[in-house]
Amino acid sequence: MESLIGLVNKIQRACTVLGDHGGEGMSLWEALPSVAVVGGQSSGKSSVLESVVGRDFLPRGSGIVTRRPLVLQLHKVEGGSEYAEFLHAPRKRFSDFAAVRQEISDETDRVTGKSKQISNHPIQLSIYSPNVVNLTLIDLPGLTKVAVEGQPETIVQDIEHMVRSYVEKPNCIILAISPANQDIATSDAIKLAREVDPSGERTFGVLTKLDLMDKGTSAIDVLEGRSYRLQHPWVGIVNRSQADINKNVDMIAARRKEQEYFESSPEYGHLAHKMGSEYLAKLLSEHLEIVIRQRIPSIIALINKTIDELNAELDRIGRPIGTDGGAQLYTILDMCRAFDRVFREHLD
Ligand code: GDP
Ligand code: NA
Ligand code: MG
Repeated sequence: MESLIGLVNKIQRACTVLGDHGGEGMSLWEALPSVAVVGGQSSGKSSVLESVVGRDFLPRGSGIVTRRPLVLQLHKVEGGSEYAEFLHAPRKRFSDFAAVRQEISDETDRVTGKSKQISNHPIQLSIYSPNVVNLTLIDLPGLTKVAVEGQPETIVQDIEHMVRSYVEKPNCIILAISPANQDIATSDAIKLAREVDPSGERTFGVLTKLDLMDKGTSAIDVLEGRSYRLQHPWVGIVNRSQADINKNVDMIAARRKEQEYFESSPEYGHLAHKMGSEYLAKLLSEHLEIVIRQRIPSIIALINKTIDELNAELDRIGRPIGTDGGAQLYTILDMCRAFDRVFREHLD
């Protein structure tokens, strides 16, 4: 995690400098991958996403709770306290994450009404914290098989279309969430992930609700990759139950309980070190680092293009130059050269 944070911070600083230069630049958020959850309704998508972030802030529950996409940008800031801000309510800083959850829910209702309707229009939330790595996470409405009372007949395809528009992007890492108490062969998450990512290189299979399986049934074939083979290992998860949510069980207690579940399980005990939310977060972070490293050559190319442009500009105004503008160009040029060296070190 530390090395991922370091790398992303360097990219962030380079983006700022390249952006300041005023060229076509590079947006940090375009340079970095995003992570989206897909799966059936109430499969545990919001719960898994919260666990990966390590914060309680998403509305969860039975039924259609997530009815608009939530695009969550985590922003690493140096020091200071943690706060959240919504694009629809700029300048209002939330430091209480329970209030963030309430605002997501209120803002969902504002657009869709207190109905079972869904909307394509995303809620955009930013979290500023010293304890996160810059990353976009996307919580999505669940895939459904039939329209329920109060929903238009087209809802099944509408949701699928919406979810697909996020996960088909090549820089989107997919957390394909399937509940263990349903047959994996019927998993909507796996079906969609397979369509948009046939090689499975950006899909992580996540099996939730292991604690809710019928007695005598086992998920071992799924967890060991025999039922459905993915390029990355399957991760089993035990999220907070609805009763835990009602009792306000916090994340630390939930993770401890989850770890105990695996360690004491006669069936999954031997896999305990490769199961659970913390392990999923670790796997994801390692994968992000690999993906981000692959971007380095294109970042170097952009830095060098900027260096060439700066040199051309300095030649045009004639050097040496004493003006403030000229001095600033020299500073940016020096920073670009420094970034070029820094990123080259990451190439091996
Ligand atoms: P989403 O609709 O896919 O976003 O799912 P949520 O995260 O909102 O969870 C739906 C419901 O399932 C909530 O009541 C959760 O408490 C419950 N749930 C999710 N994952 C698990 C799990 O691993 N075990 C148990 N017992 N309940 C879970
Ligand atoms: Na739900
Ligand atoms: Mg949800």
